[in-house]
Amino acid sequence: MNQAAITVDSGFRVAEVDPRLFGSFVEHLGRCVYEGIYEPSHPSADAAGFRGDVAELVRELGVPVLRYPGGNFVSAYTWEDGIGPVDERPVRLDLAWRSLETNRVGVDEFAPWCQTVGSAPMMAVNLGTRGVDEARALVEYCNVPSGTAWSDLRRRNGAADPYDIKLWCLGNEMDGPWQIGHKSAREYGRLAASTGIAMRRVDPTIELVACGSSYMSMPTFSTWERTVLEECYQVADYVSMHSYYEQRGDDRDSFLGSAVQLDRFIDSCVATCDHVRAVGRHTKRMNLALDEWNVWYQRRFRGEESMRMVEAPHLFEDAYNVTDAIVVGDLLITMMRHADRLHIGCLAQLVNAIAPIQTVTGGAAWRQTTFHPFALTSRYGRGTVLRVEPKAPVMDTSWLGEIPALDATAVHDEETGVVTVFAVNRNRHEPVNLAVDVRSFPELVIASTVALFDDDPDAFNSAARPDRVAPRTLDETKVEDGRFDAVLPPLSWNMIRLLPEQAPTGQTGR
Ligand code: AHR
Repeated sequence: MNQAAITVDSGFRVAEVDPRLFGSFVEHLGRCVYEGIYEPSHPSADAAGFRGDVAELVRELGVPVLRYPGGNFVSAYTWEDGIGPVDERPVRLDLAWRSLETNRVGVDEFAPWCQTVGSAPMMAVNLGTRGVDEARALVEYCNVPSGTAWSDLRRRNGAADPYDIKLWCLGNEMDGPWQIGHKSAREYGRLAASTGIAMRRVDPTIELVACGSSYMSMPTFSTWERTVLEECYQVADYVSMHSYYEQRGDDRDSFLGSAVQLDRFIDSCVATCDHVRAVGRHTKRMNLALDEWNVWYQRRFRGEESMRMVEAPHLFEDAYNVTDAIVVGDLLITMMRHADRLHIGCLAQLVNAIAPIQTVTGGAAWRQTTFHPFALTSRYGRGTVLRVEPKAPVMDTSWLGEIPALDATAVHDEETGVVTVFAVNRNRHEPVNLAVDVRSFPELVIASTVALFDDDPDAFNSAARPDRVAPRTLDETKVEDGRFDAVLPPLSWNMIRLLPEQAPTGQTGR
């Protein structure tokens, strides 16, 4: 059997995980909002028209922040269309996704819904077709308690208390030529700086995310970040990153290396931020927001021109298989490993479009395969990340060259004392024996493993078989003299919880 080893040591602290690393994204795209989270005629709908079955799954998924309302959609969006009496709201052409936008959901509906599912909105402002004035008005509408024109309008619209939205995106993917109102790095950097300054004058407590590149292979990647940050380093708190992955042809091994590519992408962004910091003699350290990431079968999309202008079209409703779920779990491992600089993550998106939750209009809602590693990582990946340096066999890929066949990280929850190891065996054919050394935690005596794997790496869940793919609980193992071995099945995502014997069930998630 293949052999691998890790040491988990309490002294090797990376950083505390920011819970916002486990956020998601709701865009007015396809059936994410309409027929996804919102469907007034659904049997489970609440008084506000939101589906109860979907809300339940969102709570289980565990997403402390939800980016909204786009994405490409926001770059031509008029937020005032989505407030006030619903029957008076205009129907608009959504130019990003060539759809009809009825505006039945806007910030007045989305912000209260976030509360019901245990999330906070991460609001994006339109810096494509609009600018400083509309952005600062939106902050005033959302965050000022009362006594000004916009805050009093919110109150008249039914929200006595401010929404108090703390996290704001200064536009979306402004480097992309496909973006409505696309700008050069210099133009965008200046606009982001002046918009951010105005927004912060309305509410000094907000945090701001400046647009980084749309993906790492953009020709302007890194130069874009450098130029933008030269203009807005003092104003922004985070730079965004977007990264989507898909299997190309039958090259599954390369796809299984997606997290290695993400690792390189994060390192490059950190390097660029630190370069601007050094050149500008800044003391503040810039952090990162991976505010769009997922597996996305983008090559199946025939382009916006192929779309008819309809309401809530079926868009990007990929059925995710076991391999996709393992890649998602692995991307989360990489994200946690970078917890010192990566504070925010948004799985794009939440429901139906590129999503872990799928719905039938008027019918069922179910968990895709990718739901499972995400929900478990969000629940148990809380605490301090500990650096682990796996000793592991390697595998060859055509995309990334030689990559480790095992990926792993560990998180120590100081409140419960539990250490959780997250590990992926990327080898599709062989199990790997993982020798774990936890001698710096003498109190840990039981290793309890939940794993996601399957004889059929292409298996997926559907309305007819919603639980075809689900995590399995494996037999508990004893930790002896601070060591134990875990056998990770071929092509598997694993979560090993190391528990002190006396810890009461429930507190440790056993
Ligand atoms: O998440 C789907 C789209 O991907 C977003 O609208 C855009 O920002 C990105 O290109």
